[in-house]
Amino acid sequence: MKTVICKTYEEISKAAAEEIASIIKEKPKATLGLATGSTPVGMYRELINKYENGELDFSEVTTFNLDEYYPISKDNDQSYDYFMRKNLFDHINISQGKTNIPNGSASDPIAECEKYEKKIEENGAVDIQVLGIGQNGHIGFNEPGDYLHTVTHITDLTESTINANARFFESESDVPKKALTMGIGTILKAKKILLLANGRSKHEAISALLDDKITTAIPATLLKTHPNVILICDEEAYYG
Ligand code: PGA
Repeated sequence: MKTVICKTYEEISKAAAEEIASIIKEKPKATLGLATGSTPVGMYRELINKYENGELDFSEVTTFNLDEYYPISKDNDQSYDYFMRKNLFDHINISQGKTNIPNGSASDPIAECEKYEKKIEENGAVDIQVLGIGQNGHIGFNEPGDYLHTVTHITDLTESTINANARFFESESDVPKKALTMGIGTILKAKKILLLANGRSKHEAISALLDDKITTAIPATLLKTHPNVILICDEEAYYG
């Protein structure tokens, strides 16, 4: 795992945007795996800057997001669909038909997950998958447990994730209790993985990435099996 330790959040965001930009420049039809949460917001801002100053063209880019709450409607301002429009898609020249996010209002969530996994597979490999990391070590909504899922699936959120995400909702009881998420196998099929972490609250999870042990209790440790992971984080996340 290649590691880049940054002094500030702005530095993380710029370094992460550079990684994405270099892939799009080399391959205009690139497929990006995208993440939500607070960590990648600065990276998206940098990508918008690069689009606005003519450095990047998203017209042929395809995206697949990691996850979505369930149930939730696209219009809910806490949905990841809304997040992606507000933080990236509305500000760049990406074609709406090339953006993919699991449908949080599907009547049959299991069929929706199967459809999503198939669409990723048919599209061909994700060139770069962006990941944040939960305080509990989750990636996407692959929560710690006795076992992990390989493919896109519906999952219960853990208490830790509900607490961590309650800050975005009016009250903790408003946080959806389930989500649709790519599985660990879906994530590991990406050609390259870009893991972002900012702040002391991520230190425990990041430390678990720095030895040679793998455990389903800290799902991000499975990334150690991938040959092309780059971790971009700040000093607090890295050193505590
Ligand atoms: P955060 O979430 O970027 O808001 O900290 C990351 C995650 O839970 O995966």
